[in-house]
Amino acid sequence: MTSSAEARPTAEKLAQATRNMISTKAEKFTESVIREMTRLALEHKAVNLAQGFPDFPAPAEVKEAARAAIAADDNQYAITWGAKPLRDAIVEKFKRTQGVTVDPEREITVCCGSTEAMMSSMMAIINPGDEVVIFEPFYENYGPDAILSGATPRFVRLHAPDWSFDRDELKRAFGPRTKAVIVNTPNNPTGKVFSRGELEFIRDLCVQWNAFAITDEIYEHILYDGKRHISMASMEGMRDRSITINGMSKTYSVTGWRVGWAIAPPGPTEAIRKVHDFLTVGAAAPLQAAGALALKLPETYYEKLAENYRVKRDRMLGILQQAGFECFKPSGAYYIMTDISRFGFSDDMAFARYLVKEIGVASVPGSSFYNDEADGARQVRFTFCKTEATLAAAAERLSKLSPR
Ligand SMILES: Cc1ncc(COP(=O)(O)O)c(C=O)c1O
Repeated sequence: MTSSAEARPTAEKLAQATRNMISTKAEKFTESVIREMTRLALEHKAVNLAQGFPDFPAPAEVKEAARAAIAADDNQYAITWGAKPLRDAIVEKFKRTQGVTVDPEREITVCCGSTEAMMSSMMAIINPGDEVVIFEPFYENYGPDAILSGATPRFVRLHAPDWSFDRDELKRAFGPRTKAVIVNTPNNPTGKVFSRGELEFIRDLCVQWNAFAITDEIYEHILYDGKRHISMASMEGMRDRSITINGMSKTYSVTGWRVGWAIAPPGPTEAIRKVHDFLTVGAAAPLQAAGALALKLPETYYEKLAENYRVKRDRMLGILQQAGFECFKPSGAYYIMTDISRFGFSDDMAFARYLVKEIGVASVPGSSFYNDEADGARQVRFTFCKTEATLAAAAERLSKLSPR
């Protein structure tokens, strides 16, 4: 006779059985390497130059606006697709910075960060069999975004050192199944800022193949060396085939607030709003109120932001070069991609693990930005959105590293 205890599956067996029950979609991608590196950084008390979040304060007036909104009991659900003052502020800013006029009632969806705006947009437009063109190296979310929305990714390589793409390769990636191209400019992880000529070339392919451009523009204000940001939606012929993704995280140093948005023509917006409603209902109401104020900050705020990051970029380039890295100088965003060949490690994962455990600095292995891990095996990425004290600590630790 078996006792009831014996009949019960062991915890281990149960864990195995439930592991077998997960979806094939979820099985197809791994945990975010960036967040894993952040955890390792905590475990080893390393300086975290992996995940792109600032360790300095957000603007005082923006924080005060959030406090005031909570005190005024702006604490219930906002309108699903975004509080009106924030949508109005997005319209005003898009017009002011890019000259594009959009309708706050029919063309904007405020989401829980640009991460959700991207996912909701993909889920709103993708059908089985649709293809999405993705430049690689790419921000690692785009892989799972494609899998979860059911899109088949077509990767097109950005080539170091200037991260240019081969126009013929891009042409070949487009075809009758292409539903969209994802353009991230300024770019994570490379720091590339797409030029007008490049955007025009992409635009022409979108028009030829009747495809959307989904443009991730969250680093729009973090630009160096006189570079200018051009929104795809501002280009002739693209107003009604662009889905512009943006958010507060990077521009206002509030990555934990989770406020972002998608700007799209009325048809896609209707679909994006439906997906967004059932995914998250809405972004935090008091933080949307603060967003309405943030987006009206004067031009000097953005100039100072870019200049502060320029100083940090130059400081970090010096630190990395001194330590023996080959650096690809970014024109925008707040990351530096490096080549680690000189250090003689078998691959990027081995190097990044050594760096976090033995040297005490967390980075992101290059393979997490490529479809085929081997393509990133000689690269790692560092962020520099950190205080001078953090960068100085990193400099001291990295000085112990020696090229082999
Ligand atoms: C290119 C890019 N898009 C989106 C995000 C995430 O933005 P959000 O905080 O608005 O979800 C990041 C964060 O690092 C990023 O680098």
